[in-house]
Amino acid sequence: MPKILTTESGAPVADNQNSASAGAYGPLLIQDQHLLEKLARFNRERIPERVVHARGSGAYGYFEVTDEVSRYTRAAFLGEVGKRTELFLRFSTVAGNLGSNDAVRDPRGFAVKFYTEEGNYDLVGNNTPVFFIKDPLKFPDFIHSQKRDPFTGVQEADNVWDFWAHSPASTHQITWLFGDRGIPASYRHMNGYGSHTYQWVNEQGEAFWVKYHFKTNQGIRSLDAGQAAEAVGGDADSHQRDLHQAIERGVFPTWTLYVQLMPVAEAADYRFNPFDLTKVWPHADHPLVKVGRLVLNRNPENVFAEVEQSAFSPNNFVPGIGPSPDKMLQGRLFAYADAQRYRLGVNHTQLPVNAPRATEAANYGRDGHSALNPAGRGRNYEPNSYDGPAQTDAALAAPTGLTGWTGTYATPAHTKDDDFFQAGELYRLMSEGERGRLVANLAGSLAQVTRDDIVEKNLAHFHAADEEYGARLEAAVAKLRAVDES
Ligand code: HEM
Repeated sequence: MPKILTTESGAPVADNQNSASAGAYGPLLIQDQHLLEKLARFNRERIPERVVHARGSGAYGYFEVTDEVSRYTRAAFLGEVGKRTELFLRFSTVAGNLGSNDAVRDPRGFAVKFYTEEGNYDLVGNNTPVFFIKDPLKFPDFIHSQKRDPFTGVQEADNVWDFWAHSPASTHQITWLFGDRGIPASYRHMNGYGSHTYQWVNEQGEAFWVKYHFKTNQGIRSLDAGQAAEAVGGDADSHQRDLHQAIERGVFPTWTLYVQLMPVAEAADYRFNPFDLTKVWPHADHPLVKVGRLVLNRNPENVFAEVEQSAFSPNNFVPGIGPSPDKMLQGRLFAYADAQRYRLGVNHTQLPVNAPRATEAANYGRDGHSALNPAGRGRNYEPNSYDGPAQTDAALAAPTGLTGWTGTYATPAHTKDDDFFQAGELYRLMSEGERGRLVANLAGSLAQVTRDDIVEKNLAHFHAADEEYGARLEAAVAKLRAVDES
């Protein structure tokens, strides 16, 4: 027997096919509560989409520690080999809206929420180890330049490349994005990176700088520009369909987590600024250390409730893990929870996908829209004489040493730090085939720019990265622009 259909207040609904009217021809009656509620409810189904990373897919799974890392961090969920922690992972594209296509050239988000016994730990990364900019003040401008133009209503190559013309530090990430890994075949076939440098602290209070690398065990698979156009035309939701169906079939995707570790004392003299998000730490300097395995094995029951309403914040740390001084990370520590208070409301942390699972939130935050107020009758001030939740007095992370005066500074450069060296290194690492495809992809986009000065400024960046790289790109762009003019 199916359940009885009810209104939202639980009263039985007599007729869900015909509105109540005055006579068979109408008009309709305002006393038809079921009709009014159904229409009003429908009007309120959409909420603001994420300002970036609006389009995404999520799944649950677990993380299992396979290698001993407790000498580097006292985070309990990483404390012993064999330990498993439940998690939720949301993948995404960056620039497109909620209804945009999956198979596009764009970085992919890789956001993990570990439901640990010491609270939720969110690692909100991408499928790229670096980023376009190094100061959060530039993020809104960067994103505006990549999204739709306010006048034409479409993404404009002029805007995309005008921003990059003024942002030489983007050259490294652009080289990555237009290379072979720029359009993943699916979310299962790409790596994830924490990208920023974070801090790990062990039981003795000793701190390390750390970078996270999740390597796909499905193998890297990407689409070239032609395959991507075909994929988009055939199935706009190709990534979502692939992930959902693989998990339903019981083919669970897995990633192996490695970290790179740097003793704190090394940071000041390292050849690259270790807190500059446009740079990697070469593996030869800091080899990968294996940590464990991430498995996705369960689809959400309801995409809106669990994927759309999921909320990740780089500021959700657990004891033993903390931020670094990376200015981009520092900006992100503010941005996410603020965006979520706007997008989902102040009580979004009480939604099942966001609430802690292996422990309980216990604090004095109260009320606001749609509050469940789980503390019930508990006192709502602290300190109190009623055994309310109390602080631990144990620092979550280690203190960071500081020097200097307040001011607006450019991100400091170390000995090997210019905006181009690592972009050139990445190019020089590529095979001849990869270089050819990279140059063709870049030229195809840059040749759409209508202003010569914007093209020239960008070409100068690629010349600075590697003379051959710049020369090949310049020739390819000139050829395409000549065809356009003919
Ligand atoms: C989403 C801001 C850089 C990865 C978001 C959101 C905001 C934001 C406001 C939407 C949050 C929400 O509504 O739930 C910023 C700012 C940045 C920055 C201000 C630079 C200062 C980055 C970087 C990465 C990244 C460097 C990767 C390393 C992501 C991911 C999401 C996201 C994966 C989607 C999370 C999800 O699946 O819900 N960002 N972002 N962002 N950002 Fe950033």
